[in-house]
Amino acid sequence: MDTPGGVRLTVPFVNLAAQHEALHEELEEALQRVVRTQQFILGPEVEALEQECAAYLRLPHAVAVSSGTDALLMALMALGIGPGDEVIVPTWTFFATAGVVARLAARPVFADVEPLGFGLRAEEVERRLTPRTRAVILVHLYGQIAPDSERIAELCQQRGIALIEDAAQAFGAQYRDGRGIGHFGMCACISFYPTKNLGAWGDAGMVVTRYDELARQLRLLRNHGMEQRYLHKLVGGNFRMDALHAAVLRVKLRHLPQWNARRRAHAQHYAELFRCYGLAQAPGTAEFAPSDHVLLPAELYAGQTEVPHVYHQYVVRVQHRDALRRYLTDCGIGTEVYYPIPLHRQPAFEGLAYREGDFPVAERLAAEVLALPIYPELTPEQQEAVVSCIAAFFRTLR
Ligand SMILES: Cc1ncc(COP(=O)(O)O)c(C=O)c1O
Repeated sequence: MDTPGGVRLTVPFVNLAAQHEALHEELEEALQRVVRTQQFILGPEVEALEQECAAYLRLPHAVAVSSGTDALLMALMALGIGPGDEVIVPTWTFFATAGVVARLAARPVFADVEPLGFGLRAEEVERRLTPRTRAVILVHLYGQIAPDSERIAELCQQRGIALIEDAAQAFGAQYRDGRGIGHFGMCACISFYPTKNLGAWGDAGMVVTRYDELARQLRLLRNHGMEQRYLHKLVGGNFRMDALHAAVLRVKLRHLPQWNARRRAHAQHYAELFRCYGLAQAPGTAEFAPSDHVLLPAELYAGQTEVPHVYHQYVVRVQHRDALRRYLTDCGIGTEVYYPIPLHRQPAFEGLAYREGDFPVAERLAAEVLALPIYPELTPEQQEAVVSCIAAFFRTLR
C-alpha cells in the first residue's frame, strides 16, 4: 500500500518483534533470574506464574503445563475419558480441540456453531447427547466467551456431563455478567503459543479450575502421576512447563490489560474505517445486505462488562475471500484464514463419516472468514492501509 509520501506501507499479520523491542530489558532481567537459579523445569518461577494467573482470572487454581493441546488432553485424562466415550465438540475450531478426544480413543461428536459469536450452540449440543456422552468442549473462539456458555453449562449440569472450556484464545475475556474463563465448566484450558495475546517463547499452556480435587489430579498427571519421588499414583505424562517460559509470561502478564485495551481500541477503529469506506454496517449482522461487502465481528457483551472481547483475532466475513486475500498479499498486507476446513471435513476424521452439508454454518464460515492484522503495536496508518486496500479490491469488482 503506497502512503501519500510514496513509501510502501506493509502490514504484517503478526509482529512479535515490535512487542519484544518494548520489553527486552524486563525480559532479559527475568531470564537471568532463572539462569541464576538453574532450575529450568517447574519450580518457583512456574509457581509464581500460576498464582498470578489464578489471581488475574479470579480462580483458586492454575496448573502450568506444556501447551494448550496438552492442557485439553490432561483435562480429558483427568475425567477418565477413553474408548467408547463420546465428547461433543464444535466443528468450527482449531484441530486440537477434537484431536485430543481421538488420541484417547474416544469419539469426537461434532456440532455446529452460531454465526455471530462463533460458539457452540446449546440446541446443537442437546441434539447430539447420547448415553455415551461423557463431556462437552466449549470453545471461546477469537477472544470472546461463547454466547451459549451459560445454557450449555446448565445443560451439562442437568445431565451430569462434564464441561471443559477451550479458552486457548480467550485469556482475560469476560461474559456478559463479568464471569471469566473457567467459571462455566470444570476447567478452562489456555494456550500460551507465542502469537497468543499472552504468548511464551515456545509452547506452553495452563489449566485453570475452581475445583481443588481436579487441580490435585492435574498436578499429578503433569508429572507422570508422581506423588512423591518415584512413587507413581497414575499414568500421566511429561506435561510440565519450563521455567524460562514462566519468566517470560510473568513479564508479559503485567502488560496484558493494556495490550488487550489496545486491541479493543483497534477493533473499534477498524469498525469506524469500514463504515467510512462504505464497506460494512455496524458490527452485529450475520447476513450480508446487498450493499455490504464485509461483515464485522460482533462484540456481544459490549457495555455489559469491562472486557467483553480480547480480540485475539479480528475476523471479518467477506465474499470473494480468496481473491481478496491474494490482493491484500500483493499489497503487502498479511491475513490468515481460521479455518479453511471445518473439523468434520478433515481427512484425519474421515472415519467418522461426516459429509459436506452436515454443518452449514461452519461450512459457510470456512468460505468467508478472514483474519486481519490486530496486535497492540498496530498503527492507525496501518489500519487505514488495510481497509483502503480492501475498498480498492471491491472497486475492481464493479
Ligand atoms: C482453539 C484452540 N484450541 C487449542 C489450541 C492448542 O494450543 P497449543 O498450540 O498451545 O497446543 C489452540 C492453539 O492455537 C487453539 O487456538
